[in-house]
Amino acid sequence: MTTDLAGKYGQWGIIAGGSDGVGAAFAHGMAARGMNIVLVARRQQVLDDRAAEIRSKHGVEVRTVQLDLSASDAPAELDVATSDLEVGLFVYNAGSDDRSAAFLDKDLATHLSLVHRNCTSVVDAAYRFGGPMVARGRGAVVLVTSGAAWVGGPTLATYGATKAFDLILAESLWAEWRGSGVDVLGLVLGATDTPSMHRALGAAGDSRRDLADPSDVAEEALEHLSDGPTWICGSSNPTGGSPFGALSRRDAVLALSRSLGVSDEQDVASVRNG
Ligand SMILES: NC(=O)c1ccc[n+]([C@@H]2O[C@H](COP(=O)([O-])OP(=O)(O)OC[C@H]3O[C@@H](n4cnc5c(N)ncnc54)[C@H](OP(=O)(O)O)[C@@H]3O)[C@@H](O)[C@H]2O)c1
Repeated sequence: MTTDLAGKYGQWGIIAGGSDGVGAAFAHGMAARGMNIVLVARRQQVLDDRAAEIRSKHGVEVRTVQLDLSASDAPAELDVATSDLEVGLFVYNAGSDDRSAAFLDKDLATHLSLVHRNCTSVVDAAYRFGGPMVARGRGAVVLVTSGAAWVGGPTLATYGATKAFDLILAESLWAEWRGSGVDVLGLVLGATDTPSMHRALGAAGDSRRDLADPSDVAEEALEHLSDGPTWICGSSNPTGGSPFGALSRRDAVLALSRSLGVSDEQDVASVRNG
């Protein structure tokens, strides 16, 4: 285990979306490696419970910041709430979609809120927290993305598009900042056993045996912060290319559609009707 993230990157780590699931696993992994932790999420009680657990288990300082990352001023508020800290590692984790449904079956506000949390706030946070890291010559930024970033498919339209945005943003920042002392990692996750995943799957989630353990995911990521631009968790080829290989874009979209239970002949209306 890399034991001293604080010594390498700086004393404090922020996890945007750090109170449960993969984010909480990151918080434990970073605290175990000597970092003080800032947890960001919407539910204060969950934040408080997680903060107490991390303090008692790892003996580090933990600060909580209650924010909705879909709000346009959230990254600015986080910047103010942490302005006295040297933030050495920023993990932008919050990003899943609790309810997959056809594009027109969700209201527009829900789509736009997802774009705001998964795109606008990610750019804003990367700018605000990455800038001082580059100026100091050390730090790390992790943007958590998804296998849904590789190709489009039914019921994934806005979610997949935001995850593609995060993947390209991470790879681009890696290209700009390599050599500056700041590591950037676009972390691609597959299906992982989190509260959010269970909300999305409903009862079907309980019988799934193929879900990754959030602790394994966070450990793998923390051991590979310097192996960017992209790390595909759990893959036999974690720095490799598209899981769709050499398929044309069209065939890849159709393959993903089939894996989501939509045959090549079905049209959008039948997807909408279930
Ligand atoms: N789980 C999977 O199978 C899977 C698969 C592929 C990729 N991923 C990616 O992995 C990341 C983590 O996923 P996850 O399943 O752990 O669930 P998640 O819902 O993305 O993250 C949960 C954490 O984020 C917080 N959060 C969610 N929305 C927020 C908001 N608007 N403002 C502030 N905090 C917010 C939650 O606390 P509150 O609810 O209290 O705010 C909680 O701390 C996401 O980026 C997702 O796209 C997950």
